[in-house]
Amino acid sequence: MSPLLELKHITKRFPGVLALDDVSLSVGSGEVVALIGENGAGKSTLMKILGGVHQADAGEIWFDGRPVTIRHVAGALVLGIGFIHQELNVLDNLSVAANVFMGREPTWGGPLRLIDRQKIARDSEQYLKRLGLNISPGTPLRELSLAQQQMVEIAKALSQNARLIIMDEPTSSLTLSETERLLATVCDLSENGVSVIYISHRLGEIEFCADRVVALRDGRNAGELQTGEVSHTKMVSLMIGRKLEDLYVRGNGSQRPRYFEVEGLRTRYRPQHKISFDVAGGEILGFAGLVGAGRSEMAQAIFGVDAPLEGKIRLDDQPLVIHSAHDAIEAGIYLAPEDRRRTGLITEMSVRENITMAGLKHCSTWWLIRADRETEVARQQVETLHVKTPGVETKTMDLSGGNQQKVVLAKWLSLEPKVIIFDEPTRGIDVGAKAEIYGLMRDLANRGVAIVMISSEMEEVLGVSDRIAVMHEGEITGFLTREEFSEQAIMNLAVGRKAA
Ligand SMILES: Nc1ncnc2c1ncn2[C@@H]1O[C@H](COP(=O)(O)OP(=O)(O)OP(=O)(O)O)[C@@H](O)[C@H]1O
Ligand SMILES: [Mg+2]
Repeated sequence: MSPLLELKHITKRFPGVLALDDVSLSVGSGEVVALIGENGAGKSTLMKILGGVHQADAGEIWFDGRPVTIRHVAGALVLGIGFIHQELNVLDNLSVAANVFMGREPTWGGPLRLIDRQKIARDSEQYLKRLGLNISPGTPLRELSLAQQQMVEIAKALSQNARLIIMDEPTSSLTLSETERLLATVCDLSENGVSVIYISHRLGEIEFCADRVVALRDGRNAGELQTGEVSHTKMVSLMIGRKLEDLYVRGNGSQRPRYFEVEGLRTRYRPQHKISFDVAGGEILGFAGLVGAGRSEMAQAIFGVDAPLEGKIRLDDQPLVIHSAHDAIEAGIYLAPEDRRRTGLITEMSVRENITMAGLKHCSTWWLIRADRETEVARQQVETLHVKTPGVETKTMDLSGGNQQKVVLAKWLSLEPKVIIFDEPTRGIDVGAKAEIYGLMRDLANRGVAIVMISSEMEEVLGVSDRIAVMHEGEITGFLTREEFSEQAIMNLAVGRKAA
């Protein structure tokens, strides 16, 4: 039997980048193929060609045993190819149901073509249920968390009866239970004969769900792993072409206790709870919890984006008054936010502009922004973080997802923070680059910075943190010291079982 999909010798060039160079990939019916590779390896580009977003410069696409041309997104849909994009593709103002059926709304009233809202709602509900998503179809998308919005995207693909579903980092904004549910859905789809191309930087997920693994490196095929040979180590060496030594680095042990203190913080979202914690200078305090536990809201309150109702913040024994992000930055407190598309990055601006924006002060003498200084800072950061870009003047929207995330981090790392809050710092970042980012966080800590790291990746929280705070529904349910670290201990606290 011929495979459902065959991509043959695909080549794609963007200005200054050969994104894909003679890449081939095949997928059988009901097969789950994982596509792996470092940031910028060409995974999303290959999928966008399949999804009709980009056109290949050379190569062929065979679907169901015959050559096809996919000129636009609608063309892919007609063939039965569903696409869940790496960056969310939903419209905030519309309801959940309207998003699921966007462009395919069932109508009634004959030539009047009135949209059958009830049917949309009923049908959407069925897909939402299948994904275990407990929200009303009438809810406007903007009221949902990032995780829930991602699930809506998946419901949309399911409703299209796709024969092949492309998932480009579907779990990067989901956590534990949502991720488990999604992986179960992938297995379910495959059992029902639907093929899945699964892109993820979370190798554990791939070990769990993939029938076969295909690796890309620098826009070329770098090898495959068949069922039974898929392992973490093998995937890493296919992707980066070498073994990875220590992913996590321990601190140098010197800490200034209670350097940064938060006491009785009440946020607008959960006014009934008070949050108190402290971070030593030189310490990385991890914040674990389920999606919606209130970690990002807490971060926003500390950073002054969403002023807290009450609470004291002290830095180095000095009380601080923070009414705005400006006050926080003045005091040396920074937040690297989780949602890079909304708050972290201005995609129309260049890599240089994005990196130096927050720190203009450091680059300007009097009123003049020293352009050469700016370029130098940006170049340095691009180099340290290995951002894959043709140059510092490239617009960030042309970078791969993981490289955009690195630019966001570069922006904050180029300043001189006293306290820095990283909200999901390595979302969508490849293993090699993760190691670099953990290294940089550790360097900052070793220079005496107090670091708060909010993370939904269990492995990361356990590996990187010196101490862990766990949140549940807006309050801290417990702290864990290194000796107490375990997945189970975190889970218990995350679902609200307080420490004895
Ligand atoms: N629209 C575009 N214009 C110019 N260059 C682009 C465009 N899209 C992608 N590129 C470049 O093509 C290369 C491959 O990018 P791609 O997004 O496919 O990587 P990826 O493997 O999906 O990475 P990640 O894991 O970070 O998502 C990168 O160097 C990227 O900068
Ligand atoms: Mg990508």
